[in-house]
Parts: sequence; C-alpha cells; structure tokens
Amino acid sequence: MAQKQRMRLDRLLCMLGEGTRTQVREMVRAGLVTVDGQVARDGGMQVDAQASVVCVGGRALSYKPVRHVMLNKPQGVLTAARDGRQRTVMDLLPPMYAAMGCMPAGRLDKDTEGLLVITSDGRLAHRIISPRHEVGKVYWARVDGPLEQADVEAFAAGLHICDGDGEFDAKPAHLVIERAGSEESEARVRVTEGRYHQVKRMFAARGVHVVALRRLQIGALALDPALAPGQWREMTDEEVKRLTQEADDA
Ligand code: URA
Repeated sequence: MAQKQRMRLDRLLCMLGEGTRTQVREMVRAGLVTVDGQVARDGGMQVDAQASVVCVGGRALSYKPVRHVMLNKPQGVLTAARDGRQRTVMDLLPPMYAAMGCMPAGRLDKDTEGLLVITSDGRLAHRIISPRHEVGKVYWARVDGPLEQADVEAFAAGLHICDGDGEFDAKPAHLVIERAGSEESEARVRVTEGRYHQVKRMFAARGVHVVALRRLQIGALALDPALAPGQWREMTDEEVKRLTQEADDA
C-alpha cells in the first residue's frame, strides 16, 4: 500500500517548484489552487502529497517521492550537498531537489566536468559509489604528453599508485588511446573504483598529467549529449531501471 506523505499544502507547492512560500500562499489566497477538486483557502491545510490531486490554475501537479537527476557538471563547481562559500552542484538545481533529499551519488573534482547522478534514493547512490559493486565509470581525458601501447598494458595490469596522497594498487582499467602526440594525447579510460583523484593519479603514475577530464558514463548510463555543461534533466524510468539492475547484477 502506498505510504502516506502528509504535509502542508504550501510546503508541497514550494517543493514542487511552484514558488517561494510567500508566492504560493498568495496563489492560494487568489483561489488558484485546488485540492481534490475543491478550491484551497488555507496554505496550511494538510494534504497527502501522493494521493491528493493538487492543481494550480487547472494544471495537475505530479509528486514523485523519489527523484533522479542527470547533470552535466561544469568545471568550477563543487560536488557537495552544500558549502558555505563555494557554488555546489545542488545550486544548479531548483531548491525542491535538496528539499526532497537529493544528494550527489559520488564525487567529481572541482575541475572535472561530465556525468553526475543526483538522487534522493540513498540505496541507488550507495550502489553507484560502493567499490563492492564495481560499477564501471568511463572518462575522457586529455593529458600533457604521449600515450602508447605500454600505457594500455600498464592500465590493464593494474597500476601501483604511490604519491603524496598515499599508496594503493589500482584495479585493472581499460585504456583506449584516441589521439597520441608528443605534447598532448587524448584517451578514454574505464575504471571500476573511485578513489581520491583516481584517474589523474593513474595517468600521473605513467608520467603524464591530466589537463582536462570529463565523465561520460556510469555503468549503462551515458551522459546525454544534448546536455551542455551546467544543464540537467530528470532521468527516464528506463535509465533508472538500467542503472538499478546493473547495480543489482554487479
Ligand atoms: N578521477 C579523478 O581524478 N577526478 C575525478 O573527478 C574523477 C575521477
């Protein structure tokens, strides 16, 4: 049986992005909001967010208790729920997503762009992040030097990382060189773990430095090419299903 989600009407309207608390109260006072066919007179009335049919100006609102967003994270923005000083990925979304408990599933560095899932489903987030599930992540990287077959083999064998941030044996990773040059090269890499600066440190272990990094894919979920950096959309049910199933299968 569907769980009841009782809350104040004005809170629900705010969560659904219909306006600020003051604006939605004004809409209620103006008689624009109906609940189950009756004009609402009090923003403080209790409604069932799942079961009540709430309309604004005759338009029915849809309340989904779980939200999943695909964001093309731009450079220069922190992957965090909030930060006192710097802009975070949550600042790129309407406030209702934070109000509904959405959080970034995993982390991209401030200077990395690309696919980030933001979800209110903690279990899905955990599955995307948890190394136990080994969900593959594909990145495109530009580096400041040459790449060659020996690098492909070293990535595949599993690199030993030892740098100022610590020491670990990286799991085998799939490297595909797209363009190789003495000054600059480009490649795609698929990794199944997400340690601190993982991809940058793997390339550094091979003597080159990442100058641009973009995440293209998480498991079966590819970044929508229609999303420019900073743009986002809700994930389709099909995308959520594929990601959930893959996480389940892993
Ligand atoms: N690896 C990195 O080095 N940085 C990221 O943002 C993601 C993976």
